[in-house]
Amino acid sequence: MYTPLKLKKENPIVLGIESSCDETAAAVIQGRRILSDEIASSANIQSLYGGVVPEIASRAHTDAVAAVVERAVKNAGIAYADIDAVAVTYGAGLLGALLVGVSFAKAFAYALNKPLIAVNHIRGHLAAAYLDEPQLKPPFITLLASGGHTAILHARSEAEFDILGGTLDDAVGEAFDKVARVLGLQYPGGPHIERCAREGTPNIPMPKMLKGGGGYNFSYSGLKTAVINYCHTKEQKGETYSIPDVAASFQCAAIDVLVEKTVAAAREKGVNTITVGGGVAANGYLRETLARACEKAHLKLVLPEKRYCTDNAAMIAAEGLVQYGLGNFAEMSLNAKASIPLSVTLEKK
Ligand SMILES: Nc1ncnc2c1ncn2[C@@H]1O[C@H](COP(=O)(O)OP(=O)(O)OP(=O)(O)O)[C@@H](O)[C@H]1O
Ligand SMILES: [Mg+2]
Repeated sequence: MYTPLKLKKENPIVLGIESSCDETAAAVIQGRRILSDEIASSANIQSLYGGVVPEIASRAHTDAVAAVVERAVKNAGIAYADIDAVAVTYGAGLLGALLVGVSFAKAFAYALNKPLIAVNHIRGHLAAAYLDEPQLKPPFITLLASGGHTAILHARSEAEFDILGGTLDDAVGEAFDKVARVLGLQYPGGPHIERCAREGTPNIPMPKMLKGGGGYNFSYSGLKTAVINYCHTKEQKGETYSIPDVAASFQCAAIDVLVEKTVAAAREKGVNTITVGGGVAANGYLRETLARACEKAHLKLVLPEKRYCTDNAAMIAAEGLVQYGLGNFAEMSLNAKASIPLSVTLEKK
C-alpha cells in the first residue's frame, strides 16, 4: 500500500527528475543546498536533425533515466531511504518525454513509499534563483527567457506570480534557434550565436520591436524576419556579409529590450530584487548587460549559475521544495501534460 508520510520537515531532502525535452536529469537537494546534479543529454543526436525529434528524445530518456537517478542519489552521498520527497516535471513539454520521467518518478516514489510532487517546468525555471541565493524571498521581479517562454513576472510570494507582460509571438530562445539556423549555426542556437557574436560588431540596424513601448510585452517574429531578409537580400545580390556581425546585431536587439523592460518593471513595482530563469538567461551578454543596469539602478540581481538556467533537475527539486512547504503533494494518478498555460501555471494551487 502506498501511504507516504507527508510530514513537513526543515530542510527536507528532495529528489528532482526532469525529462520534458532532450535532457534526462536528476538532482538531489537538501533545503536549498545542491547535493548532486546529473544530466544525460540527447542534444548531440538532436543537432543532426536541427531540432528535437520527440520520438528520439523519449527513447533516450527511457535508456537514461534509471542510471541518471541512481547516479544522483549515489553522488549526493545519501541512501534512498533518506529522500523526503520525489519531485518530477509533469508539464509542459513533449508528452512522450514527460511520460518517461513521470512514470519513473511514480514507480520510484511508490516503491520507497515517499511523497510525490508534481512540478511545472516553468515554475522550475523560476525556482532556480532560490538555489543561487539561499536568503532570497519574494517580492522580486523575474525575467523568464527560455526556449518556449518570454515574460516578466512579479513574484508576490513563493506561490503567487503576476504576469506583467509576455511575448506576443515567438519566444526569445526560439528566435535565437531560428536565427542560428539561418546563419548555418548548430542547434541549440543560443550558445552558438553567443560565441559567434563575440567575434562581431553590432553594426547592422535591427527593428526596435517593442523597445520603448508595448508595456512589458515583447515581439520577436519581426526581428527574426529582419535577419532572414537581410541574409537573403545579400545572397540574392551576390554580396557577402559577416555572420559574426549579424549574430552580434541580433543578440543586442534581442537582449537589450529584455533588460530595459525588466529593470523598468522593478522600478514601477518598487521591488529591489531581480531574478532570471530559462536557457537564454545563460547568455553572457544578457548577464553582463543586466548586471550593469541593476548596478546603475541600485537593484539586487540574483543570477542562477548558467547550468541552472538551461533545463536541469536541481531547479525541479527547488520548486519541489516550494511545493513541499506549501503541502502540495500529487496522487499516484498524476499524468503528464504537454501544455499548461502560463496564467494557470502561476496561479496559487
Ligand atoms: N548562451 C545562450 N544564449 C542565448 N540563448 C541560449 C543560450 N543557452 C541556451 N539558450 C537558449 O535557451 C533555450 C533553451 O532553454 P530552455 O532549456 O529553458 O528552453 P525549453 O526548456 O526548450 O523551453 P521552456 O523552458 O520554455 O519550455 C534555447 O532556445 C537555447 O537556444
Ligand atoms: Mg526549459
